[in-house]
Amino acid sequence: MYKIQIANINLTDLGVNEDLLNSYEFEVPYRLQWHDEHIELRNLVKPKEKGIFVDFVNGKLAWRRLHGGGSGQAVAKAVFSKKKEKPAVYDATGGLGRDAFVLASLDCVVTMFERNEIVRILLKDGLRRGYENSDIGEMLRKNLTLSDHRSILELSDEKSCDVVYLDPMYPKSNSTALVKKDMQAFHDIVGLDLDSDMLLSKALRIARHRVSVKRPKGADFLANVKSSSSIETKSHRFDIYVPFNNEQ
Ligand SMILES: C[S@@+](CC[C@H](N)C(=O)[O-])C[C@H]1O[C@@H](n2cnc3c(N)ncnc32)[C@H](O)[C@@H]1O
Repeated sequence: MYKIQIANINLTDLGVNEDLLNSYEFEVPYRLQWHDEHIELRNLVKPKEKGIFVDFVNGKLAWRRLHGGGSGQAVAKAVFSKKKEKPAVYDATGGLGRDAFVLASLDCVVTMFERNEIVRILLKDGLRRGYENSDIGEMLRKNLTLSDHRSILELSDEKSCDVVYLDPMYPKSNSTALVKKDMQAFHDIVGLDLDSDMLLSKALRIARHRVSVKRPKGADFLANVKSSSSIETKSHRFDIYVPFNNEQ
């Protein structure tokens, strides 16, 4: 088994929990390293494979911000309700920040929670570059942050946001060819979110208006709890729940 390798990254500047970082073990060697002004994750056994990094400024997310369909996108429909057009959102499963960025671009104020220390490093680095960018920096500083709390499970049970958005890893897809090649390293790093059922009950306690859960198409409901409604796309389903003690 291998520990993560770190090349030329100042972990103190990034506020990294080094004990947690050193506790991870993988079947293949991975390295976090600088490349072209960003920090990326590389599988050292597959040197030709592109590194994984968070890029809010260029690439797919920039295209999606400019041409992706705005509030007509399924993730936006899953989060916006008639009660609150631009809700304050907790993205409880931050990952590489893609869904959170789409919502932030649509002027939601999004707080991401992410428990994996390697993913947190990638997110912090992506946010740093995004905050400095002349096109999106102001919007991003206003609308997208990473919480110091690693999980919403650390929060008290008070209502503290309008919407909680959940997109845990779906265990069944992890071992199959369904995982896109470029995301295999991400899946190896994060593993299976086998405890994700717990997130739903917490989310239902802290959200004021709505909890929205992204699932692969055809997947079971999270925690086997049937949703009030769902939005289907070609490959996903967004299950929408009404929180406990919902404010009318
Ligand atoms: C499928 S990814 C989310 C992808 C994300 N929606 C995106 O657009 O990039 C799931 C992420 O949630 C994180 N996660 C799972 N359970 C968590 C929990 N209880 N608290 C915080 N983060 C969690 C995992 O570490 C992983 O990075």
